[in-house]
Amino acid sequence: MAHNFQASQQWERIQKYWITENAADDLTNFKSDQRNHKIALWDPRNSGIRYLKTLVYNLAMGLDKENWARLKEVKNRNVGNPLTVRCNGETVCLDYLQAVLELGFIEQEIDLQGASVMEIGAGYGRTCHTILSNHDIAGYTIVDLNNTMRLSRKYLSEVLDDKQFAKIRFVEASNADSALESMWFDLCINIHSMAEMTPEIVQDYLGLIGRTCASFYVKNPVGKHTDRSMDGHPEGIEAIQMAMETGPLRQVLDIHDTMAVNAAVTDFIAAYRPGEEWTCAADGRAIPWSYFWQAIYKNDAFYR
Ligand SMILES: C[S@@+](CC[C@H](N)C(=O)[O-])C[C@H]1O[C@@H](n2cnc3c(N)ncnc32)[C@H](O)[C@@H]1O
Repeated sequence: MAHNFQASQQWERIQKYWITENAADDLTNFKSDQRNHKIALWDPRNSGIRYLKTLVYNLAMGLDKENWARLKEVKNRNVGNPLTVRCNGETVCLDYLQAVLELGFIEQEIDLQGASVMEIGAGYGRTCHTILSNHDIAGYTIVDLNNTMRLSRKYLSEVLDDKQFAKIRFVEASNADSALESMWFDLCINIHSMAEMTPEIVQDYLGLIGRTCASFYVKNPVGKHTDRSMDGHPEGIEAIQMAMETGPLRQVLDIHDTMAVNAAVTDFIAAYRPGEEWTCAADGRAIPWSYFWQAIYKNDAFYR
């Protein structure tokens, strides 16, 4: 009996509009246009959530036992309706995946038991939430802009229990000098935030860290990028110009070129060192981003 292997309605449509009878006329760009986007799975233009979830799924499935344990300690991660995937019965989002990867890196060098921690630029508080859920620390000081701190204060009060929340102190950035100068912290954390401050403010914060902390964990980009094809620059040229002026590292590089990124690492390590008496104890690429680097510095006076 003859079989009928003809195109489905779906493929009739694809052939009508995209892989037409003229599809093979010019191959110059076909792998990056609709012809290949109808053949391959990965059309990047309309699939942001697909990509995010694919990234989260793969990162989660690659987590080691220790990081799964850290993640499971963090309760109420779904407050705020994050975009999640479900792996082995656990819902996971990119923010907390990064948080456990960051914490794992920190733990290799710093003993957090009973530690006093300061974080500059805490966002909504994912790092604070993760550290307080995993360690019996003495206190956690958040230094941030007022509006962001309203968000972190509310969020952390919802996700943490009263005893944990009581350990947090909130300090407005404009008061940081007077509020913190006489304090001492075992660890200062800065994640994806000094790169968005003016170089002068970064220098002032590094000076403060140099005087008040025993160690410093930093995770930031190694430089800037201008590739419009990545996001279409949705906030316009003014936002790009502002972004180009912030952070201690403002050289433009191809952020998806390992050699270009590796070549920028020496400057990264130098730029975030809080002082002459500080040593970089560990550094590495901050997964999953190709161009984010992380480092831990130790204050020689303290770790002698
Ligand atoms: C991109 S968010 C990153 C937040 C968080 N570290 C994370 O990775 O989820 C940048 C953070 O830096 C804070 N920030 C910006 N300028 C600051 C300043 N001058 N002093 C303190 N924090 C600042 C913002 O309010 C925000 O909390």
